[in-house]
Amino acid sequence: MNDRISSAPPAEAPTWRDLVTAARTTLGRGDEALILAQEAAGLPAAEFVLVLDACPEAPDRARFLTLVDRRRGGAPLQHVLGHWGFRSLDLLVDGRALVPRPETEFTVEVALAEIAARWPSGHPVLVVELGTGSGAIACSLVVEREALRVIATDLSPAALAIAKLNRSRLDPGRAGRIEFRSGDWYGALDPGIAGKVDLIVANPPYIAASEWHDLDPVVRDFDPREALVAGESGREAIEAVLRGAPTWLSVGAVAVVEIAPHQASAVGAFASGCGARSAEVHRDLTGRDRVLVARW
Ligand SMILES: C[S@@+](CC[C@H](N)C(=O)[O-])C[C@H]1O[C@@H](n2cnc3c(N)ncnc32)[C@H](O)[C@@H]1O
Repeated sequence: MNDRISSAPPAEAPTWRDLVTAARTTLGRGDEALILAQEAAGLPAAEFVLVLDACPEAPDRARFLTLVDRRRGGAPLQHVLGHWGFRSLDLLVDGRALVPRPETEFTVEVALAEIAARWPSGHPVLVVELGTGSGAIACSLVVEREALRVIATDLSPAALAIAKLNRSRLDPGRAGRIEFRSGDWYGALDPGIAGKVDLIVANPPYIAASEWHDLDPVVRDFDPREALVAGESGREAIEAVLRGAPTWLSVGAVAVVEIAPHQASAVGAFASGCGARSAEVHRDLTGRDRVLVARW
């Protein structure tokens, strides 16, 4: 039992159950009220159910009410919590970088499968991640594959700051295999690695400027615009990544790029125009075209 929970509450003090029930009505989202209560109590779901009928101490109750207020004010659940799960990791998230999405967990899966298909486990692999944001992809890759090194870049100093915080939460052996670089796509890289990169991975911005106003406000008003909007067509950043790939990849190497489903045929054709010997698009778990794999 959490020692911050009173064992003999005054009759009028609300229990966690009372607070969650009230917040469900306020937020209109039962699951989120429960998640925020678990966060305020500092307890995982399995332990929180054991204190549902206990009364929280005043600081935990105040924290819960603050979290509910922020969510009611429109902030994304992930920002209110300040952290979010991505594959095996619990990443720090805030307005400095895009909240990592489930689609991108699939992008990591495709990248790992490409690596596993080419090199035996333990073989050194050099990956470049362009536009690392929170560092979600880079951190997952070094955690899930031994002897893999990532050079992860971003144009946004704010994003790189949170990516570094997420790297610092890994064990030192894994953290030491990620290097961050600041700059405009390939401009962030040391020219000495041209032709030596085994895999390029990117989840570039892929929304057209005209789509910006129609985005869900929880995305439009809280994720950084430069993480979402690429330009007039929405394909500009993907094309920049593909255009530069042949210069940086080693012979027979691969680029794994997250895309919007409606871009699949255009970006596949663009990769072929950049000299890729094959370009295929993988469908995500919801069956939508999501990840371009281009091989040179
Ligand atoms: C869609 S977000 C992806 C973030 C992270 N990789 C993820 O999957 O959650 C795109 C990232 O690209 C970065 N970016 C935008 N334009 C860039 C550029 N010209 N050069 C490098 N990075 C850029 C943004 O700052 C943002 O962090």
